[in-house]
Amino acid sequence: MILIDGTATAATIKEEIAQRVRQILADGGRRPHLAAILVGHDGGSETYVANKVKACEVCGFQSTLIRYEADVTEQELIDKVIELNNDDSIDGFIVQLPLPRHIDEQKIIEAIDYRKDVDGFTPVNVGRMAIGLPCFISATPKGIMELLKRYHIQTSGKHCVIIGRSNIVGKPMAQLMLQKIYGDSTVTICHSHTENLKEICRTADILIAAIGRPAFVTADMVKPGATVIDVGTTRVPDATRKSGFRLQGDVDFEHVAPLCSHITPVPGGVGPMTISMLMQNTLLAVEKNW
Ligand code: GUN
Repeated sequence: MILIDGTATAATIKEEIAQRVRQILADGGRRPHLAAILVGHDGGSETYVANKVKACEVCGFQSTLIRYEADVTEQELIDKVIELNNDDSIDGFIVQLPLPRHIDEQKIIEAIDYRKDVDGFTPVNVGRMAIGLPCFISATPKGIMELLKRYHIQTSGKHCVIIGRSNIVGKPMAQLMLQKIYGDSTVTICHSHTENLKEICRTADILIAAIGRPAFVTADMVKPGATVIDVGTTRVPDATRKSGFRLQGDVDFEHVAPLCSHITPVPGGVGPMTISMLMQNTLLAVEKNW
């Protein structure tokens, strides 16, 4: 069994990006510039955004953090998005989610110019991805594709089973694994109402669990020799930890891992890849000729 090390892979990718930035600067180019809009003071969002700013430093990017209090109006946010769309000094930007309940998230996302949408959340990028056009791919599915590639896991012609149909993981993951230019796999999407789920999972060469239920995937659902990718990160109470909780994936790692050819741990698998994918997308925003 090979443990897929997302932490080490993400560090390698950030170093590769930093190297590319040094080359851009040596060639007389401008430093890539990522902006982030953060609304309110949600602890999780604060941490995410702080880590994104830190990753910008590691990669040699300029970063700008734009903060609003939680009572910001929808119109103020839309006006800022339009300003960033038109600001030539900014290559890409994100609006950190979730937003306060009085703001329609979809409306804000749809205001972002798809050429600066480095989160890959706009319908234009999602649609472009689905038909194989150049686009920004969202961080989690992109990170999983990168791990499969860097660990030389054969996907072409293989059966990939995805558990979960969310817009941010399950659906884009299925699109990527299906397309000839990416996974070139035969793809099955399962979800909470799928009949014969166990039997279907047992036919998977690559099993991607993104259902958000701790330890949902048990050993009897996995074909010996399969690759298992765990997207789950549920906080479960753990009195032995200082924090009082630990992160539990969607896979019963202890019993599933011995069966696998490759498996991602939680934490340290898919999670650390996501910010490095945001950095890759920002570099792409600089280099892309739309
Ligand atoms: N909130 C949690 N994850 C993300 C992400 O990848 N992008 C944005 N914009 N908000 C998030």
